[in-house]
Amino acid sequence: MENKNLIRRGNKLFTKNLTPGINVYGEDTIFVDGVEYRYWDPFRSKLAAAILKNLDVELKDTDKVLYLGAASGTTISHVSDLVNRGFVFGVEISKRVAKQLYLLSMRRRNLAMLLADANKPRTYIKYVPLVDFVYQDVAQKNQVEIFKKNISLYLKKGGLGFLALKAKSIDVTRKPKAIYREVYKELLSEFDVLDYKVIAPFQKDHCVFVVQK
Ligand SMILES: C[S@@+](CC[C@H](N)C(=O)[O-])C[C@H]1O[C@@H](n2cnc3c(N)ncnc32)[C@H](O)[C@@H]1O
Repeated sequence: MENKNLIRRGNKLFTKNLTPGINVYGEDTIFVDGVEYRYWDPFRSKLAAAILKNLDVELKDTDKVLYLGAASGTTISHVSDLVNRGFVFGVEISKRVAKQLYLLSMRRRNLAMLLADANKPRTYIKYVPLVDFVYQDVAQKNQVEIFKKNISLYLKKGGLGFLALKAKSIDVTRKPKAIYREVYKELLSEFDVLDYKVIAPFQKDHCVFVVQK
């Protein structure tokens, strides 16, 4: 990914900290030319894992992002670093984990959280505009349907969608590869599938897809 807020040192990724002096989940920081960067852990973030696996994906400094399954804010905090002049809307269903996300959104000028169900995308239509990028990591049985519904309502024509597919959430009894193939075909029937990667060893039984509307 080419983004001026992302740097690589060897096989490590770092994002330019939008809130210098404050880290999010105990991650290390480094300084480059007096600017603070946060270490981006690929074992804790599927997007970092996918970038290290050379997934072809672009997030621009000015992008607006809809992020589904924001949890307590680990990956979305790095997305907020990357889209410095853009904005990220984080949807999370669990009140318990969203507490941390709420605190994060108070500290970051380009991040808002919505306590909502990504299965019901119309419930946040008042708050979310058309976006350049839809990111999804919800680990639900109907995760592909959720992804398609949100893309249909919120993604601009030509915008990108990132799906972190957890095979075991769809069916624990089937081989992950068979599920990846099936989902690939399903996505292909509606979008251009630009790239996909299995992200082992960082995450087990996960494949990520990038589609274009
Ligand atoms: C694997 S975790 C996400 C981790 C996060 N993306 C990260 O990398 O920091 C999945 C999250 O999706 C949330 N989730 C599950 N179903 C959801 C739904 N229907 N709507 C919104 N969030 C949902 C869960 O509560 C959980 O926090």
